Amino acid sequence: MHDASAAIVVDGMVVAAAEEERFSRRKHHVGFPAGAIRYCLEESGASIKDVDVVALSWRPWVLGTRVMNALKSVSFSRKAFQAKASRGMGQMGNEWYELFVMKRLIKQHFGSLTGKIHYLDHHLCHAVSAFYVSPFEKAAALTVDGAGEDNTTVFWTCEGTEMKRIAAIKIPHSLGQFYAAITGFLGFKIQSDEYKVMGMTPYGKPVYADFFRNEVFDFCKDGTFRMKKRFLDYHLARQGMFLPETIKVLGKNRLPDEEVTNNHMDIAKSAQVVLEEVLFHMANHLHRETRTDTLCLAGGVALNCVANGKLYDNTPFRRIFVQPAAGDAGTSVGAALYAYHRYNREPRKYQMRDAYLGPSYSHQECVGALNEFGLSYRELLTKEELCSTIAAVLSEGKLVCWFQGRMEWGPRALGNRSLLADPRRAEMRDIINLKVKHREPFRPFAPSVLEEKSYDYFGNPIPSPFMLFAFKVNPNRQKDIPAVTHVDGTARPQTVKKEANPLYWNLIKEFENRTGVPVLLNTSFNVQEPIVCSPKDAVACFLKTKVDYLVLNNLLIEQPSNTPT
Ligand SMILES: [Fe+2]
Repeated sequence: MHDASAAIVVDGMVVAAAEEERFSRRKHHVGFPAGAIRYCLEESGASIKDVDVVALSWRPWVLGTRVMNALKSVSFSRKAFQAKASRGMGQMGNEWYELFVMKRLIKQHFGSLTGKIHYLDHHLCHAVSAFYVSPFEKAAALTVDGAGEDNTTVFWTCEGTEMKRIAAIKIPHSLGQFYAAITGFLGFKIQSDEYKVMGMTPYGKPVYADFFRNEVFDFCKDGTFRMKKRFLDYHLARQGMFLPETIKVLGKNRLPDEEVTNNHMDIAKSAQVVLEEVLFHMANHLHRETRTDTLCLAGGVALNCVANGKLYDNTPFRRIFVQPAAGDAGTSVGAALYAYHRYNREPRKYQMRDAYLGPSYSHQECVGALNEFGLSYRELLTKEELCSTIAAVLSEGKLVCWFQGRMEWGPRALGNRSLLADPRRAEMRDIINLKVKHREPFRPFAPSVLEEKSYDYFGNPIPSPFMLFAFKVNPNRQKDIPAVTHVDGTARPQTVKKEANPLYWNLIKEFENRTGVPVLLNTSFNVQEPIVCSPKDAVACFLKTKVDYLVLNNLLIEQPSNTPT
């Protein structure tokens, strides 16, 4: 399905996990994750014969509810019906079909599977992917996405390995699909560019918030919500079509290459404000039901770090955990862990303390990639030399592609496949956009900060190792780190703990020793493609940019186009 991934659990521990897009090099890869499965088997030293259970995070036979939903839409719009039916049929012939013939697909790629195949509820896998790997023994959980088989939101209470469903909301009432349709209305890619809409919100005014709040959503007394009218149709939006009533209220939809206007910013802001209100409404209800102050969040909506950050001020939850791959990719970890504990009635023992579950590459592999591209390199012999050399060039305003160790799990680069820069220089945003990313100027860049110094800069109530919470930058610190402070004074920090990533921690520490600032600008190492995975991806991407340096493990490479000839 969308954002396909694989994860492997051995003796209760998540040994490896990765998104298929990193191997196939197709963003949000849809379909059988052959590359990710191959990697998981290799990393754990297993063959397909060693696998006891294959667990999938979808139950394809329940997907029939969507067909019923499509039929119901005939009554209000022929176009909406056609859009739903054509997407449903397309999925039926491809992704859903693959779910039914999983054993055959596995055999084709890896040989015969002797273990069983389990089909698990999609939202259960989301919930497990967060709670089972969290530090909590007991918690409430909220899973919110576009849609699972038929649920769009599920409320849970969790203890040990027990997951109890308290309530559920079904399609077409979907917060994720609402935000996705707004993303499409604003000319961006649905199920992909929602974070761009989120990045626009500080520039807009919530002029449509009342309309969304009163006319589109119904905040139900039982803590759930309903969509009152078919104002924005998700399936039509996927095809770039919008209902006349949408256009009457919001104006004409934006086409992908059109300029972003103030009205677009206002739409984004209004959608964000109401998404947050619906989320707080549900979270507060969940708290009343569960009486715990610990919350696990998962599902695509849990990637909305602006909303996540505000949960502390708008709900009684005090400890909130979101695992890095909160979207659909994360469900492979949930499926594998759930299946493991169903067979082995033992307490949970794995905790996701860092996101480095992807592949790493040897010195030989790095050298091989450089030779292939005819690049010369300098070897930095000690970790101290590596960190001090790179901290020095960063403090001089240079850009560095930083490739180290195991790749991150989830959509954020967290210091192993990152593009790094000096956060003290306000002009750095423009420089990166010019030399590397060519992205929308309104999108912010995020900081990595030493965990022990993070409160001084961000006042964050908890560590944020996966960049999934936006906080206010302390007013007296905003001038120190202008390149990572958004226009509304917020930032989405990654707090770096020494034990989680010693090399990256040391690099930031060395930068602090030189500049007095324990923060680096950290954006993902990619240019309009999935984040780089292998040294070969890294070199190819580096050469497409004007970034000054590439670091591949301990090898330093200068940008050839910057070297005078
Ligand atoms: Fe999902």
